[in-house]
Amino acid sequence: MLPIGPLMKEHRKIERMVALITQEAERLTEDESAEPDPDFIDTALTFMREYADECHHGKEEDILFAELEEREISGEHSQIMERLRNDHHQGRELCADLEAATDAYVEGDEEAREVIVEALGGLADLYPDHIATEDDRFFIPVMDYLSEQDKEAMMEDMWDFDHELLTTLYEDCITRYEENDD
Ligand SMILES: [Fe+2]
Ligand SMILES: [Fe+2]
Repeated sequence: MLPIGPLMKEHRKIERMVALITQEAERLTEDESAEPDPDFIDTALTFMREYADECHHGKEEDILFAELEEREISGEHSQIMERLRNDHHQGRELCADLEAATDAYVEGDEEAREVIVEALGGLADLYPDHIATEDDRFFIPVMDYLSEQDKEAMMEDMWDFDHELLTTLYEDCITRYEENDD
């Protein structure tokens, strides 16, 4: 398998969450009296931060993009890579806006509803084109910059990255409470 195989599989999962985020944005837009669902938003934020950002964008930026940066890639590919990085950054900002607005809404700030709808809509707009650009215009052509050995090494790096991330996430579940014992 090519190292972009796992990344493309992750896209299929991210698309499913983005479809749910889109539904939530549409539900709130179509009915002005509809209340945002803080439980769904909390789950969506955890997914977008841990899976889409830390796990998926983490492998893209720290492994794939980092490897490509060490090679002479075309102007077109380096422009696309820059735009992809900017999209990741925008995704993080939209998640931060969504979290802050949801907290405010739960605390009784009715005006925060509009920011929630905007942030959900922003995520719904950002990801489909981002993913299509990676799948259709970037991942496959940039494989030509890598040797077979490079690709194998990258697969291993991705495996190690996921393992370390999972270990860190669950280690945090323990240390969070151990530290509180003091
Ligand atoms: Fe990406
Ligand atoms: Fe991606």
